[in-house]
Amino acid sequence: MAIKRAWWKEAVGYQIYPASFMDTNNDGIGDLNGIRSKLDYLKDLGIGFIWITPIYESPNVDNGYDISDYQKILRTFGTMEEFDLLLEEAHDHGIRVIMDLVINHTSNQHPWFIESRSSVKDDYRDYYIWADGTIDGPPNDWVSIFGGSAWEYDETTNQYYLHVFAKEQPDLNWENPRVKRDLFSMVDWWLDKGIDGFRVDAISHIKKAPLETSSTNDPFDSFKNVPGIETHLEELRDIFKKRDILTVGEANGVSAAEAPKWVGETEGYFNMLFEFDHISLWNKEEQETLDVIHFKKALTAWQDALADGKGWNALYMENHDIPRSVSSFGSEETVFWQASAKALALTFLLLQGTPFIYQGQEIGMTNMPFASIDDIDAVDTKNFYHEMIHAGVEPSKAMNVIRRTARDNSRTPMQWTAEEYAGFSKRKPWMVINPNKQEINVLDELTDPNSVLNFYKAVIQLRNQNEALIYGSYKLYLPDHPQLFVYGRRLGNERFVVIVNLSKEFASADLPENVQIEEWDLQLCNLNNHTIHQHTIFAPYEARVYKHK
Ligand code: GLC
Ligand code: CA
Repeated sequence: MAIKRAWWKEAVGYQIYPASFMDTNNDGIGDLNGIRSKLDYLKDLGIGFIWITPIYESPNVDNGYDISDYQKILRTFGTMEEFDLLLEEAHDHGIRVIMDLVINHTSNQHPWFIESRSSVKDDYRDYYIWADGTIDGPPNDWVSIFGGSAWEYDETTNQYYLHVFAKEQPDLNWENPRVKRDLFSMVDWWLDKGIDGFRVDAISHIKKAPLETSSTNDPFDSFKNVPGIETHLEELRDIFKKRDILTVGEANGVSAAEAPKWVGETEGYFNMLFEFDHISLWNKEEQETLDVIHFKKALTAWQDALADGKGWNALYMENHDIPRSVSSFGSEETVFWQASAKALALTFLLLQGTPFIYQGQEIGMTNMPFASIDDIDAVDTKNFYHEMIHAGVEPSKAMNVIRRTARDNSRTPMQWTAEEYAGFSKRKPWMVINPNKQEINVLDELTDPNSVLNFYKAVIQLRNQNEALIYGSYKLYLPDHPQLFVYGRRLGNERFVVIVNLSKEFASADLPENVQIEEWDLQLCNLNNHTIHQHTIFAPYEARVYKHK
């Protein structure tokens, strides 16, 4: 089946976490004018659209994912006029703008919730999920993704309300048609403004199992991709379908097998999904080195499930919820850092799908050596730390786990320069800056031809110029090789092969016959000295892409 063209298939995306991107009024917090000031940089990188995480009015318990007014801009970030300018200027740069749509829950400061909690008879009572307690306390044993019970007792009416995330993020009741009507009209309002689409937050949680359902082996089963969710998603899709926009759903709990239903060209709910299989977002254990076979398998399952026009992939290695990819999947060690950052770039940017680069990923930013829990802002991480301490874990051990897993690893300010505040602000920022800004920063990398940044640019350019890397099919080679990730892309006679060593050791492999390297031209390689002596031996984190002659 021929794959239909679309702008959102061809463009490379860039995720902006505004609080940590660029601060222009020097209050230590990034802002909309900061994004405007970096549009040239993004254009030069080859970016086709940006996704901005929430900038709406919010008490910021979960950094903007707790919205108290969907149609206002948070004062710290700027004004609606500045947003309109950003949208216009981005469009002038050929960069489209995607907003975050957080409709599983609101803030507990949203007027709907303030009304809702005021009385059982209130007109807005059914906008949220309320239930009576039991002798054991909460209505049932459901636990929150952010730790503790998923229920919060509210004195005013002597009932509990449900919150899948923090207690300040009550879940909306999607079974109430009025909730949907209000949410959908807000969606239309933003689209009428001319934005180019949405990243749809936590959308696999909008349907809840009957409250009598007890948690089974997965503690979040009762509110993760629960049967019946289709009805809500179909209604949402019908709003989206009226426009030529990009929609990407955050789909925790949706398997590759179900993906065609979620993102099929005609009936799908979204254009693409952020799957969770190749990362373990809420995994609190210490990670070991990358399991390359498992990694390939997870990514390939999605590539294959959506092949031949069955749907489209969203590709990512980082976002604001997970640690830095170099630290998790590559290596921070000085000898490997640069090569591994580039190896990951090549691995993910050329898979089938739309790539999303997370701010700082393109310069190889790494995890933050957090000194203590006081440096941590994220609500879930603080809860988790205190749970560990409560369970008797030694503080230093608990901090080790935090350092590897905290979401704040990716929320430290963008490293623009080596200056005191990393060129992000002239004042001490809201969040600690990684001391490695001396070695890892945009300014230095722009002028270094071997930098991670220039490698990202080169790979993006290669993708932008070759349709086979966008619309071509995907084929995995050597699935059982424990170090190498080898895949092909093909469109008609145009063929590419990507070979990446994802380990710290030399790797060798007899490549399958149809990838005999003599017949192929090297397009890019991440080694500084481009003298490849042995075609079948790969240095640690070596990454190459070839095009068939
Ligand atoms: C999503 C967001 C995350 C947020 C959560 C609750 O997972 O990416 O940052 O905390 O939803 O809105
Ligand atoms: Ca600011």
